[in-house]
Amino acid sequence: MGCNWTIQCLYWLPIYFHSVGSKSCDNICNLNIEPNQISSVSLQLFINNEWQDAVSKRSFPTINPATGEVICQVAEADKADVDKAVKAAREAFRFGSPWRRMDASDRGLLLSRLADAIERDTAYLAVSDAVPFLILECLLSVCVCMCVHRYYAGWADKWEGKTIPIDGDFFCYTRHEPIGVCGQIIPWNFPLLMQAWKLGPALATGNTVVMKVAEQTPLTALYVASLIKEVGFPPGVVNILPGMGPSAGSAIASHMDVDKVAFTGSTEVGHLIQQASGSSNLKKVTLELGGKSPNIIMSDANMAEAVEQSHFALFFNQGQCCCAGSRTYVQDTIYDEFMERSVERAKSRVVGDPFNMKTEQGPQVTNTEQFKKILGYISSGKREGAKLMCGGGVAADRGYFIQPTIFGDVQDGMTIAREEIFGPVMQILKFKTLEEVVERANDTKYGLAAAVFTKDIDKAHYISSGLRAGTVWINCYDVFGVQAPFGGYKYSGNGRELGEYGLDNYTEVKTVTIKVPQKNS
Ligand SMILES: *[C@@H]1O[C@H](CO)[C@@H](O)[C@H](O)[C@H]1NC(C)=O
Ligand SMILES: *[C@@H]1O[C@H](CO)[C@@H](O)[C@H](O)[C@H]1NC(C)=O
Repeated sequence: MGCNWTIQCLYWLPIYFHSVGSKSCDNICNLNIEPNQISSVSLQLFINNEWQDAVSKRSFPTINPATGEVICQVAEADKADVDKAVKAAREAFRFGSPWRRMDASDRGLLLSRLADAIERDTAYLAVSDAVPFLILECLLSVCVCMCVHRYYAGWADKWEGKTIPIDGDFFCYTRHEPIGVCGQIIPWNFPLLMQAWKLGPALATGNTVVMKVAEQTPLTALYVASLIKEVGFPPGVVNILPGMGPSAGSAIASHMDVDKVAFTGSTEVGHLIQQASGSSNLKKVTLELGGKSPNIIMSDANMAEAVEQSHFALFFNQGQCCCAGSRTYVQDTIYDEFMERSVERAKSRVVGDPFNMKTEQGPQVTNTEQFKKILGYISSGKREGAKLMCGGGVAADRGYFIQPTIFGDVQDGMTIAREEIFGPVMQILKFKTLEEVVERANDTKYGLAAAVFTKDIDKAHYISSGLRAGTVWINCYDVFGVQAPFGGYKYSGNGRELGEYGLDNYTEVKTVTIKVPQKNS
């Protein structure tokens, strides 16, 4: 299973479901997966390479959103545990510690061994990752996660400083040094992927990490913690804490001994993290936040492909993607046909058991509040005059399932066109001209991603340079390469992850200047 396969497969996922169904995945992955394999994951906090109960002895339940049943109890970290983990991470970062003295190439080797261990345990990880998600998509997540670690393993000994010709008799060079103890707070929507995106660059550059994982999805992160220990990372380099935002997350963001915090999640919480940094030690902050990404369909686009990719752009992962194509702008001359075909596609979407390879949409994440919020947005769409084309309700009598929903005649000012829904609810808007659609697409506080479907290269260039967004896809959607940076403009965040750019945000640049006498004295 190489990286290319993953990216191809991710890109073609919707088409793949239709044409080859489950058979091909069985062939490629050759896995025999049972949901009850989850039972042996460790459920404590991972601090200093040891499994520990929370200081408070508290724990919280992990719930299967397909059934609403409790799967297990996981230790719940709060401020006292964050303090312990930061202490361990600080000690591991001490000048002269095994981690600081380790050759960069050996750091790379550890990351590469971690990737090997993840590959070995693909089936196990995919199953635990799939508790709230689709098994097929989780197989892809495991594969991408492995690719991220392999990619950054290669960077560890290639992240070079410069020599700089300053004026005078001096030799001047820069060193790329780790920032120090990095707090990392990751969301529930792609647990394995988000963990890899954050750990890879932080460890390649020699930082130590205190990571808070989301309370909805702690299982895979804890399993990866056991692999981190197994492959030989020194104690304290990586610490993993399941916990809640207002307690553990906030303790990290305001900690006086954390040098940087990286957060992925809502724009609302992003503000709080930035404020906590400002009122504590001015720690560096990188943020990957919400989005309301425009997806523009020009009248010359390949209709079948535009419909399928736009469907994927919104409904992928139950709509729980920060970069979801949640404002689909369709040119007036093809609007009716596009709408008809999109509705047909949404109605055929297979909703059900996440462990069935044929399922396209599973339950929403286990969070009653989130579930109600999505249903609330659907009501607001109806109330504010959008036309409900299909779906609009709950899809099963137990679990957290929502029908694939499409709204037509959506206007820019409606709540469903302005706010992030994070659910399977598609907004279709009509436009006339190129200039008009760029203005409207930009008229949002967010700037994470955007897409355009057209056969005209001039239009593609015009739109991609006009849009204020960190990523623009042309005739495709959600194509991620670990080699290419990802991040947001405006309220969608700060800093970049993945690729070479991702290393910058885990590095301090030190300038060293040495006097060089020009004659023997
Ligand atoms: C969006 O981009 C267009 C074209 O570059 C520009 O005229 C407009 O001011 C931008 N709007 C916003 C809200 O950024
Ligand atoms: C991320 O790194 C870039 C390049 O060094 C830097 O310009 C930017 O300020 C950094 N952003 C954050 C939020 O740390």
